[in-house]
Amino acid sequence: MAFTGYHMGRVAFATLVAIFVAGANAIDIFLEWNVALDNTIQPVCLKQPVITINGKFPGPLINTTTNDFVHVNVFNNMEEPLRFTWNGIQQRLNSWHDGVSGTNCPILPGKNWTYVFQTKDQIGSFFYFPSINFHKAAGSFGPIQAEFDLLIGDWIFDSYNVSALKIYSWSLIMEDKQMAFQAIPDIILINGKGPYGHPLSKSYEFYSVTKGKTYRFRISNVGTALSFNFRIQNHQMVIVGTEGSCTNQITLDSLDVHVGQSYSVLVTADQNEVDYYIVATPKLINNTGSRNLDGVAVLHYSNSITNVSGPLPTGPDPFDLEFSVNQAKSIRWNMTAGAARPNPQGTFNVTNVTLSQTFILQNSVAEIQGHPRYVVNNVSYLTTNTPLKLADYLNNGLGWIELVFKNHLDFMDSWHFDGFGFYVVGFGNGEWTEESCKTYNLLDPVVRSTVQLYPGGWSAVYAFLDNQGMWNLRSQNLKNWYLGQELYLRVHDDDPNPAKERPPPQNLLRCGN
Ligand SMILES: *[C@@H]1O[C@H](CO)[C@@H](O)[C@H](O)[C@H]1NC(C)=O
Ligand SMILES: *[C@@H]1O[C@H](CO)[C@@H](O)[C@H](O)[C@H]1NC(C)=O
Ligand SMILES: *[C@@H]1O[C@H](CO)[C@@H](O)[C@H](O)[C@H]1NC(C)=O
Ligand SMILES: *[C@@H]1O[C@H](CO)[C@@H](O)[C@H](O)[C@H]1NC(C)=O
Ligand SMILES: *[C@@H]1O[C@H](CO)[C@@H](O)[C@H](O)[C@H]1NC(C)=O
Ligand SMILES: *[C@@H]1O[C@H](CO)[C@@H](O)[C@H](O)[C@H]1NC(C)=O
Ligand SMILES: *[C@@H]1O[C@H](CO)[C@@H](O)[C@H](O)[C@H]1NC(C)=O
Ligand SMILES: *[C@@H]1O[C@H](CO)[C@@H](O)[C@H](O)[C@H]1NC(C)=O
Ligand SMILES: *[C@@H]1O[C@H](CO)[C@@H](O)[C@H](O)[C@H]1NC(C)=O
Repeated sequence: MAFTGYHMGRVAFATLVAIFVAGANAIDIFLEWNVALDNTIQPVCLKQPVITINGKFPGPLINTTTNDFVHVNVFNNMEEPLRFTWNGIQQRLNSWHDGVSGTNCPILPGKNWTYVFQTKDQIGSFFYFPSINFHKAAGSFGPIQAEFDLLIGDWIFDSYNVSALKIYSWSLIMEDKQMAFQAIPDIILINGKGPYGHPLSKSYEFYSVTKGKTYRFRISNVGTALSFNFRIQNHQMVIVGTEGSCTNQITLDSLDVHVGQSYSVLVTADQNEVDYYIVATPKLINNTGSRNLDGVAVLHYSNSITNVSGPLPTGPDPFDLEFSVNQAKSIRWNMTAGAARPNPQGTFNVTNVTLSQTFILQNSVAEIQGHPRYVVNNVSYLTTNTPLKLADYLNNGLGWIELVFKNHLDFMDSWHFDGFGFYVVGFGNGEWTEESCKTYNLLDPVVRSTVQLYPGGWSAVYAFLDNQGMWNLRSQNLKNWYLGQELYLRVHDDDPNPAKERPPPQNLLRCGN
């Protein structure tokens, strides 16, 4: 059941708001995906290869409720290996299906393989995308759970292979490595469509609403590099969720969404019945003059006969990071929301936990054996042919750890932890020190799986390591990830009890050594 095609036409239909569908009876959902390269989709009026799923871009919706088992049989019709990962899905005790290079062999060209995962006690907004090479820059991302899904992301006009090559070679020839890595994408797409009114757009995204009703929008940043500010002209939004928790319901004029993050917001159609702009404008980019990266869609009232016109609604100064940090700090866990919480990680109160270890992870760029790389604590991850040959940090996991991410670069970064929801306890400028802990919010931090890192700043999270397996910790920024900014955390228990970690699945792929 519940395998729904994505919006076929220009109009995305509204569904009424249903807050947190609690999954009473888990069911099995079987999906078949044919993944292929398509040169005719053309999100903008330019020829470039786009990776489609069942002919669609973005890919189809995975419509699940809590605890469902999802089986996705992926047929790789491309000429190169392929893997998918499920952003924010915790894969309890089961890193075998996580779909990243350290834990899964790729699906070879002409072959198929079935991913199986359970959306165990999870709430929130999630999405999926292809996890190796530069595939994410060629599409094939899609939503998990629906209402009004807005998959928003920067887009590069070059073919994904050309982009990968450019990032690599630019950095080789540029003196200033930091600058070299700042390749700026060309445009922002909303659900695979170009901006309203943009000369290269073939179509634009369009949401039809009825006056007086309230709608849930799930906004995900599926891009490769840029954070954006999201807003709807003349409308406010009430934020209700992140990738992993119900948040306190604060009303916002606009919302910053960083690469790899998802939010749920409620929007009430309470304005005059005309059309309004929906915009996503890039952060930390001077988007004036000849450069125009703004993503633009339309909110259409069903009785409206007046098209949008005039300037786009203004948002916060894209360089005002204080705005962004303050907003992030104001987004807190809603302690009274009666819904299922991510379990068991999201049921803790972190006020008094005892940390067993603090890991400080610092990103930077470096030249290693003549090649440009992104590094974490001076180490860069290189994809090997044989997965699972990686870090082995923690014996007998099951404890609280603190991760401090330090961003020594001049641009935004964001970090994601597969397999876990973590508590975002703090952000700060400059150097993190032991003293910084005094500024943490330990009372009601949100649970999520991707945290943003401000330029020159740090972000701190707490995670409870109760999910045995080999888990990917990575930059969501595609070029950083591509050039080595990832590592694996092995959460290990000597006890082979399958209740602690699932044994390899029957369809385990083997590769490398
Ligand atoms: C998702 O599945 C639910 C439950 O089967 C169904 O009511 C709903 O219409 C589906 N949503 C979409 C967008 O297909
Ligand atoms: C991209 O490069 C890979 C090898 O790295 C190759 O197999 C694939 O065919 C290329 N794709 C396109 C569309 O050029
Ligand atoms: C490949 O697809 C076939 C046909 O749908 C299916 O029976 C088989 O289990 C799939 N193979 C794997 C490894 O998932
Ligand atoms: C928390 O969630 C509940 C249920 O959704 C809602 O009624 C309440 O207003 C929320 N509390 C805050 C502070 O947002
Ligand atoms: C942005 O660029 C414009 C010219 O296109 C310039 O006038 C302005 O000062 C720049 N703003 C920032 C913050 O760099
Ligand atoms: C509004 O725009 C659509 C296409 O974008 C066009 O077909 C229609 O005529 C326009 N309506 C008005 C009233 O300008
Ligand atoms: C935290 O510790 C304080 C003082 O030791 C105690 O009063 C409180 O109940 C504890 N809270 C939790 C959630 O354990
Ligand atoms: C990285 O290497 C540099 C130079 O070798 C050294 O000064 C620095 O302390 C190292 N940083 C970390 C985080 O290990
Ligand atoms: C955690 O416990 C503290 C008291 O120790 C309390 O003030 C706080 O509200 C609790 N937080 C949550 C999320 O329940």
